[in-house]
Order: sequence, then C-alpha cells, then structure tokens
Amino acid sequence: ADAKPLQFPIPANVYAETVVSVKHYTDRLFAFRITRPQSLRFRSGEFVMIGLPNAEKPVYRAYSVASPSWDDEVEFFSIKVPDGPLTSELQKIQPGDTVLMRQKSTGTLVLDALTPGKRLFMISTGTGIAPFASLLRDPDTYERYEQVVLTHTCRDVAELAYGQELVANLENDPLIGELTHGRVTLYNSTTREESERMGRITALISSGKFFSDLGIDKFDPETDRIMICGSMHMLKDVKELAESLGFVEGSLNEPGTFVVERAFVG
Ligand code: A2P
Repeated sequence: ADAKPLQFPIPANVYAETVVSVKHYTDRLFAFRITRPQSLRFRSGEFVMIGLPNAEKPVYRAYSVASPSWDDEVEFFSIKVPDGPLTSELQKIQPGDTVLMRQKSTGTLVLDALTPGKRLFMISTGTGIAPFASLLRDPDTYERYEQVVLTHTCRDVAELAYGQELVANLENDPLIGELTHGRVTLYNSTTREESERMGRITALISSGKFFSDLGIDKFDPETDRIMICGSMHMLKDVKELAESLGFVEGSLNEPGTFVVERAFVG
C-alpha cells in the first residue's frame, strides 16, 4: 500500500472540504473544485484562506473564490510555486483529498464597492483572473452593467486557457447563459511567448491599441468602472493609469469608480 501522510486533527472553526476535481493547465497553473460548506456565505470577487490538513498548524494562503456564490462547489485557480509553503503540496491534491478553508471571506473586488456604471472592465494577469471568474458568473454583474470586458495577460499562450474556457462556457450556462449573451468580451495578450496579440495590458491601453482592437470608446470615469487583479507591479501601474484619468478607488464604505486587489499566491 502507498505510504499515507501523517494525519492531523482538523483545527477548530475551519471547514474541512473534499476535493471534487483538479485540472492542471500548465506546469505553473491549476484549478480545483471542492465541496461547498452549507453555511459558507461570500460575495462574488472575495477571497478565503485555504490550507491543507498536513500539519498541526496548517499554512493558510489567501485564494480568491473563482466560482459564483450560487454554485454548490467552490472553485479556485492557483499558481504552483515549487518551494511554496502551501502550493508545493496543494498542487498534488487529488479528488477525495481534504482541503481546509477558514470560515470568513473578505475582499475589495466586489460590485458593492463600485458606483453604478455602464461598462465594467476587469483587468487581470495570471491567477488574478480568479475573482473575475466568480463575478462573470454572477447574475448581479449583468444587472448592474451593460457590457463587461475581461482582459487577461499571461506570459505564455497555455496560461490563457482557463479564462478562454470560462468565457466560452458562459453562454452555455443554463443559469446565466442568456444574461451574458453578447455582453462579455475577452481580451488576451501574452508577454513572453509569441501569440496573436503581445504586450502588457498597460502598454496596450496606453497606446490605444486595446480600444482600437475592440472598437470601443476610451475609458470614461462617468460611465466606466474598473476592477484590477494580478501581480503587484501591474496593479500599481494600472491604478496610476486609472487615477490619471480621474477614476477614484472605491471600498464598501465608500464606493468609487475602480477597485484593486493583488493576486495573492505567487
Ligand atoms: P512580463 O512577462 O512582461 O513580466 P507573472 O506570471 O509574473 O505573475 O506575470 C503575469 C503577467 O503580468 C505577465 O504577462 C507579466 O508580463 C505581466 N506584468 C508584470 N508586471 C506588469 C506591469 N507592471 N504592468 C503590466 N503587466 C505586468
């Protein structure tokens, strides 16, 4: 028989959930789904702390929930860091394994932190797409906005697959397919591997190529709202760009015209 890892008791006040499925996209990225605790409540776009029951004091990391709040499973999209305290082990999970989740969810990438608008822009790099995977499957997004544009920039083409599948599946979704029809645009680019569209999203926006490629008007703080999630440097640069155009950062206490959150693990 295979050697089983040592079993540790489940810590108090955390959910212990079962892995339902795992999908590896590249040697750096994978997605997985776990069972949904009945009492879990979260806003689309929020994150939770997750860990593994492989130590007396498990290591927890912040993960954006990638599934919508109506889903009966909880989905995550993760990087694999070879020496990462959590992801080096998390990347090995299999259906049937246990994942720990702290009970509280929180985060700034929520619809209630934005004032009403017409177009919603979701700007992401790498695993920063995860909270938008939740929001794109939330009917509320389509009640509040006429058009949604998701940008996803990664180093390589294969890293774009998760977002491409997400958007392709939206229209077939029995619950929100009709709502999303013709209203969601995915804008991809790569920065290291040759592809149809190359460049950082900051450069594509600044040069105007982003707007001309899509045939849309430039950002307007009167009607547009922006959500940003990805690597630290990208956040800083897009935030500066948004502020230079007159966008104001929002929060639940004081909704504004853009919100920012870093993609946590990585
Ligand atoms: P680049 O390859 O030029 O660094 P990572 O995988 O390291 O998290 O990066 C995800 C994507 O974010 C990459 O395509 C990376 O481009 C891009 N990126 C990194 N820093 C910035 C930045 N300051 N502004 C815009 N995009 C960035």
